[in-house]
Formats: sequence, structure tokens, C-alpha cells
Amino acid sequence: MSRIYLDNAATTKVDEKVLEKMLPFFAENFGNPSSIYSYGREVKAMIEAARKSVANLLGANPGEIFFTSGGTESSNMIMRRCVNDLGVKHIITSPLEHHCVLHTAEDIEHLGRIKKHLVDVKPNGDVDLEHLEKMFQELKNEKVLVSLMHGNNEIGNLLDLKTVGELTKKYGAYFHSDTVQTVGHFKFNLHEMPMDFITGSAHKFHGPKGIGIVYVSDRVKMKPFVAGGGQERNMRAGTENVTGIIGFAKALEMAYENFEADKKYIADLKFYLKNKLQNEFEGVIFNGNSATENSMYTVLSVGFPKTQQTEMLLYTLDMEGICVSGGSACSSGAEAGSHVIQGIYKGMANQSTIRFSFSKYNTKDELDKVIDVLHQKIGTAVNA
Ligand SMILES: Cc1ncc(COP(=O)(O)O)c(C=O)c1O
Repeated sequence: MSRIYLDNAATTKVDEKVLEKMLPFFAENFGNPSSIYSYGREVKAMIEAARKSVANLLGANPGEIFFTSGGTESSNMIMRRCVNDLGVKHIITSPLEHHCVLHTAEDIEHLGRIKKHLVDVKPNGDVDLEHLEKMFQELKNEKVLVSLMHGNNEIGNLLDLKTVGELTKKYGAYFHSDTVQTVGHFKFNLHEMPMDFITGSAHKFHGPKGIGIVYVSDRVKMKPFVAGGGQERNMRAGTENVTGIIGFAKALEMAYENFEADKKYIADLKFYLKNKLQNEFEGVIFNGNSATENSMYTVLSVGFPKTQQTEMLLYTLDMEGICVSGGSACSSGAEAGSHVIQGIYKGMANQSTIRFSFSKYNTKDELDKVIDVLHQKIGTAVNA
């Protein structure tokens, strides 16, 4: 059975050209970048070229880009270093963040180092900026880190980085944004954007898994994230993931090469599916802003009314070779109930949630097949 992969917000397949670029670094160019002889020097030069390319594509200086193992590590590092090195005593975040931010904030709070504050979110999943400003006013004279994601991985909502960044600057706070879902899918010019820290992960844009970046603005001075070696200009010790770094840079380059055309193609797919679902199934709703133009063009979060047929929809679709998720990629495969969906409906969500997320490798034919399968499995109409 051929499979249809519509879970590109969980991960994407590595582009063949990315793989091609990585392969020589496994066996031919295998030197340790810290070695002083030619094998090492050659690899070191490639790492620095990769860093420069990534920095150029994101509008940053090479010195502001550090390679890490991915988005989770990057956010952990930033939040923990802000508390350790910059005197941060309060972290403002939202209930809809990825667990790499939420659980890190909780952990630091349990250690007794900070107080965590959750900003309100509106019924559509947008951050309530008036509440955010009120929180800043209440925390006047305190050192605050704001950590709010750019693109929500489950409902596709986009944060207005400029507005939030300017607000954080007005109150002298640091601003970290988990941009894992948007690096490679959104154009950044970090020199002109008011963020102190962002994160990125190659496997979200057709690069390899286990490699990411953290951007630390030149304005901020931090101590090493990982001690024990001089790699990453002393900031993250440990022999570099060379193949990953090469893959990250190539994948990012490709992501921005045909950016507008790819974006339009993917957005067309999303709205094609949205219209079909809306027109052919009763009672279907779309979560957050995902069905609007003001959202990530890669994500569509659909709520089917709960019936016997829709309750097991994830498994039913899986049996038919259709790979989607029930919210975020859940580690157990069980739909435990997404904190994001429950967060926007204040714990009252009563739906079978399916997150469809698209890439340039999907086709309308695949979406037609998904619609056919849905008709077969849940009928022509599901009643609200
Ligand atoms: C919004 C968001 N942040 C962070 C992560 C974690 O990234 P990584 O898999 O690189 O650790 C993900 C991946 O699922 C994500 O979607």
C-alpha cells in the first residue's frame, strides 16, 4: 500500500540534494574539525561556510549562530542561561507553547529560580497582547524573559514578532521565540527584528534530524551552554555534528531558493483540503487560525464532531496508509488530548482532532484520496 504523508510539522523527509551534500562527510571528509592537519581544517572550513550561509539567509551575523542538536536543546539552553547569566527572575510564556519551552520553564520554577507566568490566549489561539502588557507593568523593575513561539505547531497561529518584540524592549525584557516551525518556512531578517533569541531545527524543512541552531543576538552576552571544549566558539562543547551542520545549511538554502513558489504551492494544497472538508462534511471545524490566511501555510487543524467513527480516526487513517497526527506528534501514538487544543477551548474541547501538515512533496491527488477515505470511513456527513 502506498502511503500518504501529511505530518510535515512533525518531521519532513530529507531532500535528496541535502543527502547528497551530506554523504561525503561520513566517510571521505571524516576529519575532526578541531584537528590541526588538513582533514580537520577542511571540515572546519566547511562548518564555518555553513554557519555563514545560515547567517546570511536569516539576516544575522555568523557569530550569532550556534549549532545545537535541535529546537529542544536550543530553547532549553536559552531559558536556562538567561536565568543563570542574565539574572532573569520571571519567565512569561503561554499555555500553547511546545513542551520544550513549557516544561523547561516549569523545571526552572521547581528549582526555585524563577516564577513562571502564563499569558492569556484568546479563543482563536492568539496571544492576548493587552494581558501581556499588563503583566509587564506588574513586573516593572524585574528581569523578565518572554518566550513565545512564532508559529504554533498544532494550530498554525502566527505571533506578530515585531509587535511583541517592541513591547518586550519597551519594558526592558529579553525576547526568545521558538521559531522551529517557521525557520525555512518564513523569511527572517534578524538584523531588523527585535528578538534576542530564536531557534531552528533542520528536520522541519527537509534537513536531517538531530541538528538545529540557536540565534543569540550580539546584544546579549552569555556564558557557555555546554562546558568542556572549545567548539562553537567555546559556547557548546563537544565534537560537532558535521554531517548535520552541512545538511542544515543545504536544507535552509533550498528552503529559500524557490520560497515564494513553494509557499504558494503548499498554501494551495492546504486551502484545497480545507474547502473540501468544509463543503463535504457537516460539523467540521478548524482550530485556531489554521483555516485563515493569517496562519502558517503548512498546517491545517481540523476538529471532527465526536462520533463512534471519528473517535478512532487517527488509527483508521493509519490503517489506510494516511499519516497525520492528532495534534502534535504524540510520543505514544495515543491521543492523550493535546494541551494546545484543550488550551484554546479551556479544557472543553469535544472533537476528534486531526492535524494535516503539508510539504512541497504532497499533491492534490493525495488529498483527493484522503477525502475518499474519510467518506468511506465516516460517511458523507457527520452531524454536529
Ligand atoms: C514548535 C516546536 N518547537 C520545538 C520543537 C522541537 O524541535 P526538535 O525536534 O528539533 O527538538 C518542535 C518539534 O516538534 C516544534 O514543533
